Amino acid sequence: MKLRLITEGKTKLYIPEVLRDTSYVFFNPDNKLFRNLNCLFVKAIGKNIKYLDLLAGTGASGLRVANETDNAEVFLNDKNPYAYELIKKNATLNNLSVQVYNKEANLLMRENVYKFDVIDIDPFGTPVPYLDNALATVRKNGYLIVTATDLAPLNGVNINACYRKYHAIPIRVPESKEIGLRILIGYLIRTAAKYSRAVKVLLAVYAKHVYKLYVFIEHGKKRADKALENIGFLYLCEKCFKFEISREKIPIKKACEMCGKEMKISGPLYIGNLKDENILKIMYNNSDYYLNEDKEFRKFFNRVIEEYDTFLYYDLHHIASLYKLRLKPIDYVIEKLREKGYNATRTTFSNYGIKTNATIEEVVDAMKS
Ligand SMILES: C[S@@+](CC[C@H](N)C(=O)[O-])C[C@H]1O[C@@H](n2cnc3c(N)ncnc32)[C@H](O)[C@@H]1O
Ligand SMILES: [Zn+2]
Repeated sequence: MKLRLITEGKTKLYIPEVLRDTSYVFFNPDNKLFRNLNCLFVKAIGKNIKYLDLLAGTGASGLRVANETDNAEVFLNDKNPYAYELIKKNATLNNLSVQVYNKEANLLMRENVYKFDVIDIDPFGTPVPYLDNALATVRKNGYLIVTATDLAPLNGVNINACYRKYHAIPIRVPESKEIGLRILIGYLIRTAAKYSRAVKVLLAVYAKHVYKLYVFIEHGKKRADKALENIGFLYLCEKCFKFEISREKIPIKKACEMCGKEMKISGPLYIGNLKDENILKIMYNNSDYYLNEDKEFRKFFNRVIEEYDTFLYYDLHHIASLYKLRLKPIDYVIEKLREKGYNATRTTFSNYGIKTNATIEEVVDAMKS
Protein backbone atom coordinates (compact mmCIF):
# COMPACT_ATOMS: atom_id res chain seq x y z
CA MET A 1 0.00 0.00 0.00
CA LYS A 2 1.35 3.45 -0.93
CA LEU A 3 2.22 5.85 1.90
CA ARG A 4 2.76 9.58 2.01
CA LEU A 5 4.75 11.56 4.59
CA ILE A 6 3.04 14.51 6.26
CA THR A 7 3.61 16.65 9.32
CA GLU A 8 0.69 17.34 11.63
CA GLY A 9 1.31 19.65 14.57
CA LYS A 10 4.88 18.82 15.56
CA THR A 11 4.66 15.17 14.51
CA LYS A 12 5.63 13.39 11.30
CA LEU A 13 3.27 10.73 10.02
CA TYR A 14 3.16 8.23 7.24
CA ILE A 15 -0.43 8.16 6.08
CA PRO A 16 -2.09 6.10 3.34
CA GLU A 17 -2.05 7.70 -0.11
CA VAL A 18 -5.79 6.95 -0.30
CA LEU A 19 -7.57 8.83 2.48
CA ARG A 20 -10.46 7.50 4.58
CA ASP A 21 -9.91 4.00 3.19
CA THR A 22 -11.38 1.54 5.70
CA SER A 23 -10.09 -1.50 3.79
CA TYR A 24 -6.48 -0.49 4.56
CA VAL A 25 -5.75 2.08 7.31
CA PHE A 26 -8.15 4.90 7.98
CA PHE A 27 -6.91 8.49 8.15
CA ASN A 28 -8.94 11.69 8.01
CA PRO A 29 -6.86 14.90 7.79
CA ASP A 30 -9.90 16.96 8.84
CA ASN A 31 -9.65 15.54 12.33
CA LYS A 32 -6.43 17.44 12.96
CA LEU A 33 -8.58 19.91 14.85
CA PHE A 34 -9.49 17.28 17.43
CA ARG A 35 -5.97 15.87 17.62
CA ASN A 36 -4.84 19.42 18.49
CA LEU A 37 -7.49 19.49 21.21
CA ASN A 38 -6.36 16.09 22.51
CA CYS A 39 -2.81 17.44 22.99
CA LEU A 40 -4.09 20.54 24.76
CA PHE A 41 -6.39 18.45 26.93
CA VAL A 42 -3.59 16.09 28.04
CA LYS A 43 -1.34 19.06 28.84
CA ALA A 44 -4.15 20.62 30.87
CA ILE A 45 -4.54 17.46 32.99
CA GLY A 46 -1.16 18.49 34.35
CA LYS A 47 -0.09 15.28 36.10
CA ASN A 48 1.61 12.18 34.68
CA ILE A 49 -0.90 9.91 33.03
CA LYS A 50 -1.16 6.67 31.08
CA TYR A 51 -2.99 7.41 27.81
CA LEU A 52 -4.60 4.71 25.68
CA ASP A 53 -5.41 5.47 22.04
CA LEU A 54 -7.85 2.57 21.84
CA LEU A 55 -8.66 2.66 18.10
CA ALA A 56 -5.52 4.25 16.77
CA GLY A 57 -5.55 3.78 12.96
CA THR A 58 -2.24 5.37 11.83
CA GLY A 59 -1.52 6.26 15.45
CA ALA A 60 -1.97 9.95 14.66
CA SER A 61 -3.74 10.91 17.88
CA GLY A 62 -1.73 8.88 20.42
CA LEU A 63 1.61 9.59 18.74
CA ARG A 64 0.91 13.31 18.69
CA VAL A 65 0.07 13.15 22.40
CA ALA A 66 3.34 11.25 23.03
CA ASN A 67 5.34 13.72 20.95
CA GLU A 68 3.68 17.04 21.82
CA THR A 69 3.07 16.70 25.55
CA ASP A 70 5.48 15.70 28.31
CA ASN A 71 3.18 14.13 30.89
CA ALA A 72 1.78 11.11 29.02
CA GLU A 73 2.95 7.53 28.78
CA VAL A 74 1.21 6.42 25.61
CA PHE A 75 -0.30 3.08 24.59
CA LEU A 76 -1.88 2.56 21.17
CA ASN A 77 -4.07 -0.20 19.82
CA ASP A 78 -5.71 -1.29 16.60
CA LYS A 79 -7.04 -4.72 15.68
CA ASN A 80 -6.20 -4.14 12.01
CA PRO A 81 -2.72 -5.67 11.38
CA TYR A 82 -1.87 -3.03 8.72
CA ALA A 83 -2.69 -0.30 11.24
CA TYR A 84 -0.60 -2.05 13.92
CA GLU A 85 2.43 -2.08 11.60
CA LEU A 86 1.91 1.54 10.54
CA ILE A 87 1.63 2.73 14.17
CA LYS A 88 5.00 1.12 14.93
CA LYS A 89 6.54 2.67 11.81
CA ASN A 90 5.21 6.11 12.78
CA ALA A 91 6.46 5.73 16.36
CA THR A 92 9.97 4.95 15.07
CA LEU A 93 9.80 7.87 12.65
CA ASN A 94 9.37 10.23 15.61
CA ASN A 95 11.73 8.38 17.98
CA LEU A 96 8.91 7.73 20.39
CA SER A 97 8.87 4.96 22.94
CA VAL A 98 5.26 3.84 23.14
CA GLN A 99 3.58 0.47 23.58
CA VAL A 100 1.54 -0.80 20.64
CA TYR A 101 -1.14 -3.52 20.78
CA ASN A 102 -2.92 -5.43 18.04
CA LYS A 103 -6.05 -6.48 19.94
CA GLU A 104 -9.80 -6.28 19.93
CA ALA A 105 -10.53 -3.09 21.86
CA ASN A 106 -12.91 -4.52 24.47
CA LEU A 107 -10.57 -7.43 25.23
CA LEU A 108 -7.66 -5.05 25.68
CA MET A 109 -9.59 -2.90 28.16
CA ARG A 110 -10.77 -5.94 30.13
CA GLU A 111 -7.20 -7.28 30.31
CA ASN A 112 -6.04 -3.95 31.71
CA VAL A 113 -8.52 -2.96 34.41
CA TYR A 114 -7.57 0.34 36.12
CA LYS A 115 -4.36 0.66 34.12
CA PHE A 116 -5.16 3.70 31.97
CA ASP A 117 -5.92 7.24 33.19
CA VAL A 118 -7.19 8.37 29.81
CA ILE A 119 -8.93 6.25 27.18
CA ASP A 120 -9.39 7.90 23.79
CA ILE A 121 -12.21 6.21 21.85
CA ASP A 122 -12.31 7.21 18.19
CA PRO A 123 -14.43 4.63 16.34
CA PHE A 124 -16.10 4.46 12.97
CA GLY A 125 -19.61 5.77 13.75
CA THR A 126 -20.89 5.09 17.24
CA PRO A 127 -18.74 4.68 20.38
CA VAL A 128 -21.49 2.67 22.11
CA PRO A 129 -19.79 -0.79 21.76
CA TYR A 130 -16.78 0.44 23.78
CA LEU A 131 -18.38 2.61 26.46
CA ASP A 132 -19.28 -0.05 29.04
CA ASN A 133 -15.74 -1.41 29.24
CA ALA A 134 -14.11 2.00 29.06
CA LEU A 135 -16.25 3.30 31.94
CA ALA A 136 -15.76 0.17 34.00
CA THR A 137 -11.99 -0.11 33.49
CA VAL A 138 -10.63 3.45 33.32
CA ARG A 139 -8.76 4.43 36.49
CA LYS A 140 -10.51 6.21 39.32
CA ASN A 141 -10.48 9.96 38.63
CA GLY A 142 -9.56 9.19 35.05
CA TYR A 143 -10.77 10.62 31.76
CA LEU A 144 -12.46 9.49 28.58
CA ILE A 145 -12.27 11.13 25.18
CA VAL A 146 -15.31 9.96 23.25
CA THR A 147 -15.95 10.48 19.54
CA ALA A 148 -19.20 9.86 17.67
CA THR A 149 -19.77 10.34 13.95
CA ASP A 150 -23.20 8.68 13.69
CA LEU A 151 -25.05 11.95 13.41
CA ALA A 152 -28.03 10.59 11.47
CA PRO A 153 -29.45 8.74 14.51
CA LEU A 154 -28.50 11.42 17.05
CA ASN A 155 -29.89 14.26 14.93
CA GLY A 156 -33.22 12.59 14.39
CA VAL A 157 -32.81 11.49 10.77
CA ASN A 158 -33.00 7.87 11.91
CA ILE A 159 -35.14 7.76 15.06
CA ASN A 160 -35.18 3.97 15.38
CA ALA A 161 -31.39 3.79 15.28
CA CYS A 162 -31.18 6.47 17.98
CA TYR A 163 -33.55 4.56 20.25
CA ARG A 164 -31.79 1.27 19.55
CA LYS A 165 -28.29 2.57 20.30
CA TYR A 166 -28.83 5.41 22.78
CA HIS A 167 -32.24 4.53 24.30
CA ALA A 168 -33.38 8.06 23.57
CA ILE A 169 -35.77 9.89 21.28
CA PRO A 170 -34.12 12.56 19.11
CA ILE A 171 -35.86 15.43 17.36
CA ARG A 172 -35.30 16.73 13.85
CA VAL A 173 -34.96 20.51 13.73
CA PRO A 174 -32.09 22.71 12.47
CA GLU A 175 -30.89 22.92 16.09
CA SER A 176 -30.56 19.11 16.37
CA LYS A 177 -26.75 19.36 16.29
CA GLU A 178 -26.80 20.33 19.95
CA ILE A 179 -29.68 18.05 20.94
CA GLY A 180 -27.84 15.05 19.46
CA LEU A 181 -24.67 15.91 21.39
CA ARG A 182 -26.74 16.08 24.57
CA ILE A 183 -28.33 12.68 23.84
CA LEU A 184 -24.84 11.19 23.46
CA ILE A 185 -23.68 12.69 26.78
CA GLY A 186 -26.90 11.58 28.47
CA TYR A 187 -26.29 8.04 27.30
CA LEU A 188 -22.70 8.14 28.61
CA ILE A 189 -23.87 9.36 32.04
CA ARG A 190 -26.58 6.68 32.28
CA THR A 191 -24.17 3.94 31.19
CA ALA A 192 -21.59 5.12 33.74
CA ALA A 193 -24.16 5.12 36.53
CA LYS A 194 -24.63 1.33 36.17
CA TYR A 195 -21.03 0.94 37.31
CA SER A 196 -21.35 3.60 40.07
CA ARG A 197 -19.34 6.00 37.96
CA ALA A 198 -20.07 9.71 37.64
CA VAL A 199 -19.36 11.56 34.40
CA LYS A 200 -18.41 15.22 34.57
CA VAL A 201 -18.31 17.04 31.25
CA LEU A 202 -15.13 19.07 30.76
CA LEU A 203 -15.66 19.88 27.11
CA ALA A 204 -18.21 18.70 24.57
CA VAL A 205 -18.00 20.02 21.03
CA TYR A 206 -19.30 19.55 17.52
CA ALA A 207 -17.29 20.25 14.36
CA LYS A 208 -17.11 18.80 10.86
CA HIS A 209 -19.77 16.12 11.43
CA VAL A 210 -18.03 14.87 14.55
CA TYR A 211 -18.99 14.96 18.23
CA LYS A 212 -16.11 14.97 20.70
CA LEU A 213 -16.44 14.65 24.47
CA TYR A 214 -13.77 15.18 27.12
CA VAL A 215 -15.08 13.89 30.43
CA PHE A 216 -13.84 13.19 33.96
CA ILE A 217 -14.83 9.89 35.61
CA GLU A 218 -15.36 9.66 39.37
CA HIS A 219 -16.33 6.59 41.36
CA GLY A 220 -19.18 6.26 43.87
CA LYS A 221 -22.93 5.63 44.05
CA LYS A 222 -23.71 9.08 45.45
CA ARG A 223 -21.66 10.80 42.78
CA ALA A 224 -23.33 8.69 40.09
CA ASP A 225 -26.77 9.68 41.44
CA LYS A 226 -25.71 13.32 41.42
CA ALA A 227 -24.50 13.04 37.81
CA LEU A 228 -27.91 11.61 36.90
CA GLU A 229 -29.49 14.87 38.09
CA ASN A 230 -28.12 16.35 34.88
CA ILE A 231 -30.40 14.11 32.81
CA GLY A 232 -33.74 15.47 31.68
CA PHE A 233 -36.05 16.00 28.75
CA LEU A 234 -36.46 18.74 26.20
CA TYR A 235 -39.94 20.07 25.45
CA LEU A 236 -40.07 21.91 22.17
CA CYS A 237 -42.86 23.54 20.17
CA GLU A 238 -42.09 23.00 16.50
CA LYS A 239 -44.36 25.88 15.53
CA CYS A 240 -42.89 28.68 17.70
CA PHE A 241 -39.58 27.16 18.83
CA LYS A 242 -40.58 27.79 22.42
CA PHE A 243 -38.67 25.29 24.51
CA GLU A 244 -38.09 24.24 28.10
CA ILE A 245 -36.08 21.57 29.85
CA SER A 246 -37.32 19.40 32.65
CA ARG A 247 -35.64 17.12 35.17
CA GLU A 248 -38.60 14.77 35.48
CA LYS A 249 -37.66 11.10 35.21
CA ILE A 250 -40.80 10.38 33.22
CA PRO A 251 -41.89 13.06 30.77
CA ILE A 252 -45.49 14.22 30.66
CA LYS A 253 -47.39 15.86 27.81
CA LYS A 254 -47.30 19.65 27.81
CA ALA A 255 -48.90 22.36 25.69
CA CYS A 256 -46.90 25.28 24.32
CA GLU A 257 -47.62 28.39 26.37
CA MET A 258 -47.39 30.56 23.24
CA CYS A 259 -49.64 28.69 20.80
CA GLY A 260 -51.24 25.85 22.75
CA LYS A 261 -49.89 23.17 20.44
CA GLU A 262 -48.61 19.96 22.08
CA MET A 263 -44.86 20.18 22.56
CA LYS A 264 -42.50 17.54 21.17
CA ILE A 265 -40.45 15.66 23.74
CA SER A 266 -36.84 14.63 23.20
CA GLY A 267 -34.58 12.69 25.53
CA PRO A 268 -33.47 11.53 27.94
CA LEU A 269 -30.58 13.92 27.43
CA TYR A 270 -27.93 15.91 29.26
CA ILE A 271 -29.04 19.35 30.42
CA GLY A 272 -25.84 20.61 32.07
CA ASN A 273 -22.87 22.67 30.88
CA LEU A 274 -20.80 21.76 27.83
CA LYS A 275 -17.62 23.45 29.06
CA ASP A 276 -15.63 23.50 32.26
CA GLU A 277 -14.15 26.99 32.38
CA ASN A 278 -11.18 25.96 34.57
CA ILE A 279 -9.75 23.31 32.27
CA LEU A 280 -10.61 25.33 29.19
CA LYS A 281 -8.61 28.27 30.53
CA ILE A 282 -5.53 26.06 30.98
CA MET A 283 -6.02 24.63 27.49
CA TYR A 284 -6.30 28.13 26.07
CA ASN A 285 -3.20 29.35 27.90
CA ASN A 286 -1.17 26.57 26.26
CA SER A 287 -2.65 26.98 22.80
CA ASP A 288 -0.47 29.67 21.15
CA TYR A 289 1.47 27.22 18.98
CA TYR A 290 -1.70 25.57 17.61
CA LEU A 291 -3.56 28.87 17.17
CA ASN A 292 -0.70 30.33 15.13
CA GLU A 293 -0.04 27.21 13.12
CA ASP A 294 -3.59 26.42 12.09
CA LYS A 295 -6.09 29.11 11.03
CA GLU A 296 -9.04 26.76 11.04
CA PHE A 297 -8.23 25.59 14.54
CA ARG A 298 -7.87 29.20 15.66
CA LYS A 299 -11.35 30.09 14.39
CA PHE A 300 -12.87 27.01 15.97
CA PHE A 301 -11.13 27.23 19.34
CA ASN A 302 -11.76 30.96 19.73
CA ARG A 303 -15.44 30.33 19.13
CA VAL A 304 -15.43 27.53 21.72
CA ILE A 305 -13.86 29.91 24.23
CA GLU A 306 -16.28 32.79 23.65
CA GLU A 307 -19.45 30.70 23.26
CA TYR A 308 -22.08 31.35 25.92
CA ASP A 309 -22.76 28.00 27.60
CA THR A 310 -26.51 27.54 27.78
CA PHE A 311 -29.06 24.97 26.69
CA LEU A 312 -29.78 25.17 22.95
CA TYR A 313 -29.03 27.79 20.35
CA TYR A 314 -31.37 29.60 17.99
CA ASP A 315 -30.71 29.07 14.30
CA LEU A 316 -31.62 32.41 12.73
CA HIS A 317 -32.59 30.88 9.37
CA HIS A 318 -34.97 28.61 11.21
CA ILE A 319 -36.48 31.38 13.34
CA ALA A 320 -36.81 33.68 10.30
CA SER A 321 -38.67 31.00 8.40
CA LEU A 322 -40.97 30.09 11.34
CA TYR A 323 -41.90 33.74 11.93
CA LYS A 324 -41.75 34.85 8.27
CA LEU A 325 -39.10 37.48 9.03
CA ARG A 326 -36.38 38.94 6.87
CA LEU A 327 -33.01 37.51 7.81
CA LYS A 328 -30.83 39.99 9.74
CA PRO A 329 -27.03 39.69 10.00
CA ILE A 330 -26.16 37.53 12.95
CA ASP A 331 -23.88 40.16 14.55
CA TYR A 332 -26.73 42.67 14.39
CA VAL A 333 -29.09 40.34 16.29
CA ILE A 334 -26.40 39.58 18.87
CA GLU A 335 -25.82 43.32 19.34
CA LYS A 336 -29.58 43.98 19.79
CA LEU A 337 -29.83 41.26 22.43
CA ARG A 338 -26.76 42.57 24.27
CA GLU A 339 -28.23 46.10 24.25
CA LYS A 340 -31.19 44.68 26.14
CA GLY A 341 -28.83 43.16 28.71
CA TYR A 342 -28.86 39.55 27.54
CA ASN A 343 -25.86 37.33 27.04
CA ALA A 344 -25.53 36.48 23.37
CA THR A 345 -22.74 34.90 21.32
CA ARG A 346 -22.19 32.86 18.22
CA THR A 347 -22.04 29.09 18.55
CA THR A 348 -19.80 26.32 17.26
CA PHE A 349 -22.87 24.31 16.22
CA SER A 350 -23.88 26.53 13.31
CA ASN A 351 -22.77 29.66 11.48
CA TYR A 352 -26.36 30.93 11.75
CA GLY A 353 -26.75 30.07 15.42
CA ILE A 354 -26.98 32.28 18.50
CA LYS A 355 -26.54 31.21 22.11
CA THR A 356 -28.39 33.48 24.47
CA ASN A 357 -30.37 33.57 27.70
CA ALA A 358 -33.09 35.53 25.89
CA THR A 359 -36.40 33.78 25.17
CA ILE A 360 -37.69 33.10 21.68
CA GLU A 361 -39.98 36.16 22.01
CA GLU A 362 -36.93 38.37 22.67
CA VAL A 363 -34.98 36.84 19.78
CA VAL A 364 -37.91 37.46 17.43
CA ASP A 365 -38.11 41.06 18.68
CA ALA A 366 -34.41 41.58 18.03
CA MET A 367 -34.82 40.20 14.52
CA LYS A 368 -37.78 42.53 13.86
CA SER A 369 -36.06 45.68 15.17
C1 LIG B 1 -11.83 6.11 12.99
S1 LIG B 1 -10.46 5.03 12.94
C2 LIG B 1 -9.30 5.77 14.06
C3 LIG B 1 -8.66 7.03 13.57
C4 LIG B 1 -7.54 7.59 14.42
N1 LIG B 1 -7.93 7.72 15.82
C5 LIG B 1 -7.03 8.92 13.88
O1 LIG B 1 -7.08 9.96 14.60
O2 LIG B 1 -6.56 8.95 12.73
C6 LIG B 1 -11.03 3.62 13.84
C7 LIG B 1 -10.02 2.49 13.97
O3 LIG B 1 -10.57 1.48 14.84
C8 LIG B 1 -10.12 0.20 14.42
N2 LIG B 1 -11.07 -0.79 15.01
C9 LIG B 1 -12.37 -0.97 14.67
N3 LIG B 1 -12.94 -1.88 15.48
C10 LIG B 1 -11.98 -2.27 16.37
C11 LIG B 1 -11.98 -3.17 17.49
N4 LIG B 1 -13.09 -3.81 17.84
N5 LIG B 1 -10.84 -3.30 18.18
C12 LIG B 1 -9.72 -2.63 17.84
N6 LIG B 1 -9.65 -1.77 16.79
C13 LIG B 1 -10.78 -1.58 16.07
C14 LIG B 1 -10.11 0.29 12.92
O4 LIG B 1 -9.20 -0.65 12.39
C15 LIG B 1 -9.70 1.75 12.67
O5 LIG B 1 -8.31 1.85 12.44
ZN1 LIG C 1 -45.96 27.00 20.16
